[in-house]
Amino acid sequence: MEKKELLYEGKAKKVYKTDDENLYIVDYKDDATAFNGKKKGQISGKGIVNNRMSNFMMQIMEKHGIPTHFVKEISDRETVVKKVTIVPLEVIIRNIAAGSFSKRFGVEEGKTLLNPTLEYCLKDDALDDPMINDYQITAIGAATKEELETIADLTFKVNDVLKAYFAGVNIELVDFKIEFGKTPDGQIILADEISPDTCRLWDATTHEKLDKDRFRRDLGNVEEAYEEVFKRLGL
Ligand code: TMP
Ligand code: ASP
Repeated sequence: MEKKELLYEGKAKKVYKTDDENLYIVDYKDDATAFNGKKKGQISGKGIVNNRMSNFMMQIMEKHGIPTHFVKEISDRETVVKKVTIVPLEVIIRNIAAGSFSKRFGVEEGKTLLNPTLEYCLKDDALDDPMINDYQITAIGAATKEELETIADLTFKVNDVLKAYFAGVNIELVDFKIEFGKTPDGQIILADEISPDTCRLWDATTHEKLDKDRFRRDLGNVEEAYEEVFKRLGL
């Protein structure tokens, strides 16, 4: 597989074309941002943890019948993925109140929600990724009604699988954000990443934060938290 020109550089990853028109290579960086890029930094080794952990999780999802972009890990930081067009939505499930949910609705961080919630944000940096509902999504053509149904079904499945998996290593899955892509033949598949950048992960006993909130909130021991998750997953 030959890496060709850079197609896109995001805040945490670069995406390259390859000599196969149906495949891309993703390259994970150590760069970290928060608050829509207003806070910038580096988390040493993050690219390696996120690449390997995301690939591990994507393969677990495949085993549970959730289609993903994963093809093959080719180095510590690089993975071959299927070519998709990203659906411009951040799809968020919450099991426990935290972050913007706690702030918006005045629910104490750490309160277990009576049911998991699903919410969408429109992926648009210039607009600060505003929250958007189903009617608004179909109205602006970000996804069709059928695509959104698939996305919601798959996202709840991802939550069940992830929650159970993390529970097995004494970690609570507080919330997470995933993204979906559309293949050239129109299939909706799980894309982007599943990592401590995109999940809130708390130690189930001590409730210690083992995710990017350590960077967002300047809590210290950021690298150590990523390494701890990595280690618990046996990676
Ligand atoms: P929030 O509480 O800040 O809305 O975050 C909800 C979840 O989404 C949390 O697990 C972190 C993740 N997230 C991202 O992956 N990217 C983002 O840009 C934001 C704001 C949150
Ligand atoms: N995506 C956010 C940013 O752009 C980072 C985050 O809070 O996860 O900076």
